[in-house]
Amino acid sequence: MITRRNVLKAGGLLGLSGVGLGVAGGWRAVRAAAPMALRAHEIEAVLDGTSPTRGVMTWNEGPEPPVIRVRQGDPFAARLINGMSEQTTIHWHGLRIANAMDGVPFLTQPYIYQNQTFDYAFAPPDAGTFWYHPHCNTLTQMGHGLAGLFIVENPDDPPFDHEVALNVRDWRLDGKGQFIAQFKPRTAARSGTFGTVNTANWKVGPQYDAPAGGLTRVRIAITDVTRIYRFGLEGATAMVIAIDGNPVAEPFPFDTLTFGPGQRLDLAVLMPAEEGATARLMNYQTSSPYEIASFRATGQPLGRSLADVTALRPNPIGEAELGNAPVLPLDLSATAEGAPVTESFCGSLGYNFWAINKVPWSGDTPDPHEPLYELKLGRSYVLELANRTPHSHPMHLHGMTFKVLQSTKGPVLPLYTDTYLIRPDEKVQLALKADNPGDWVFHCHIIEHQKTGMTGFFRVS
Ligand code: C2O
Ligand code: CU
Repeated sequence: MITRRNVLKAGGLLGLSGVGLGVAGGWRAVRAAAPMALRAHEIEAVLDGTSPTRGVMTWNEGPEPPVIRVRQGDPFAARLINGMSEQTTIHWHGLRIANAMDGVPFLTQPYIYQNQTFDYAFAPPDAGTFWYHPHCNTLTQMGHGLAGLFIVENPDDPPFDHEVALNVRDWRLDGKGQFIAQFKPRTAARSGTFGTVNTANWKVGPQYDAPAGGLTRVRIAITDVTRIYRFGLEGATAMVIAIDGNPVAEPFPFDTLTFGPGQRLDLAVLMPAEEGATARLMNYQTSSPYEIASFRATGQPLGRSLADVTALRPNPIGEAELGNAPVLPLDLSATAEGAPVTESFCGSLGYNFWAINKVPWSGDTPDPHEPLYELKLGRSYVLELANRTPHSHPMHLHGMTFKVLQSTKGPVLPLYTDTYLIRPDEKVQLALKADNPGDWVFHCHIIEHQKTGMTGFFRVS
């Protein structure tokens, strides 16, 4: 229910967001009217550093991707207004909210036509770095820009001297900065079709100022549709404080970490003490590593230390009871069925290349297959994922958070997460407490894989 009181609260809160906290240079946090208007439309924006790209899709006016900031537990309301010439929805990635707010066409809501609206309202239960994106014609809409950060603040978080949020992604552009075909069937059947221009916050290698010798909280979200990143930092040291929105039990020194599309990483970066020195966030996953963004030390050194970094308060996630939890096998495979399939508006790309438990489904279609499994509300389960393909897959579950138990690839961090990047030939066990009723999609977040078969859903009731 959107009550006047809730709306005022959300509007007032967002109006004040960012006050007292250094928010990265140039960031314009979305300010909420009541409810906050999110008008999806097309704009022109310079993404490659030179030419304006036509047909960039976003919910604000640019020239940067939107960021929404709210407080943990406070009511939030947004009205999606579709100003595009195609249908859309919004999914709130990683948020444990009611099924009706999940934004999945046919499964949880109708898709929204041009000039129509849909009201989303929820109170985010967990603090952390989340994001939002469409769940209709997702490859095109996300590929063309529709992806924003959704930052849930916990007022009790330890103080940082500064904060920078990075929306990290590629674009498929030609030499004149215009969009080229979003995918090739040949690469969709492999690791996906990569972008041609690498950006953070829609800029190639942007630089942000941060207090010298201070601790800067860097929130990174991979909103790319394809690319897997191996993050590293040059010129500074840092602690890992949260992964996929959830605090790690004990912050640990950051070296390099690999993440897939949809995943998030929160770092506490200790900036160099000398004014003008830079720290560089790198992607080491590519054959020639590149700089994603950099931070330049400014002002008198603050003299902070990594020892000042303390654990963030854990989110209230239901602990799975593993005693006699059923083990549910989930086999990820290529499917023999490579022939073109009927396209549907929000759904398929026209091909099936992948399957979960041998069933290929592209999701977002009016005829969902049977659920992968029916789960009893309140019961615990072990999801046993097996990757039978030679590619990595960031497997994402809507509406609930699971805990990583063990992997055939060696020791794992006992993370609470909504996305697990499963490597070739890996088998992993994930503990889940099925405490949110509804139909929840489970899919690969390499969108070409999602939309060519690697999608299913769980029914919790
Ligand atoms: Cu970000 Cu269905 O996912
Ligand atoms: Cu995949």
